[in-house]
Amino acid sequence: MTDPTTLTTEARTVLDVIRRRRTVDITLLKPDPVPRDVLEHVLTAGTWAPTHGLTQPWRFTVFTGEARTRLGEIFAQAYAAGTAADRGSESALAAQRARALKAPAWISLELHVPSTSRFPLWEEQAALSSAAQTMLLAATAFGLAGKWASGAVMISPVTAAALGAPSLMGFLYLGYPNAGVPDSTRAPLADKVTWAE
Ligand SMILES: Cc1cc2nc3c(=O)[nH]c(=O)nc-3n(C[C@H](O)[C@H](O)[C@H](O)COP(=O)(O)O)c2cc1C
Repeated sequence: MTDPTTLTTEARTVLDVIRRRRTVDITLLKPDPVPRDVLEHVLTAGTWAPTHGLTQPWRFTVFTGEARTRLGEIFAQAYAAGTAADRGSESALAAQRARALKAPAWISLELHVPSTSRFPLWEEQAALSSAAQTMLLAATAFGLAGKWASGAVMISPVTAAALGAPSLMGFLYLGYPNAGVPDSTRAPLADKVTWAE
């Protein structure tokens, strides 16, 4: 019988991808487009996230190529409708338009809770969050990097309405990173885990 503590090739691969997924600033992405096949693998992985009662409370809109100009316009509209002091500034709106073009692919995280759902809202949000993390991991496996972006514009009702979504939990942006992706840090396991044996 195989020793259950053996780090199998599969376990090593999964753990390595989890460790290698790091949040990457948009300025560290190459402009190279992400092939649609790759994005479909990433999205499919997202849909295999856990979902209580199989409510699958997610919809995704994928912006690539020229469509990012429309996304930038949506971000600008959301910014103009927000509360930032410079919401009336043309340069601030131009920065919102430009931001959308800085990542080759954007995936909206749209929360669609079925009216028949028997579950509390947090469980539906948790399902969409699980889908987001699963997509980030799948993207990492393809050599992509990105960020879960949840700033005011990313969750704005204006942005949600433009996508036809009831609400948004932000966007993932993805692209191929330049060399030098910064690492992150975590508290030691002992700070977070209590073993009851
Ligand atoms: C729900 C959620 C929303 C996030 N929103 C943002 C964001 O708006 N801007 C940002 O820079 N990072 C955002 N992040 C990413 C965190 O900043 C990042 O995970 C943290 O810095 C740790 O880095 P790591 O992901 O590389 O471990 C978000 C993460 C989560 C889980």
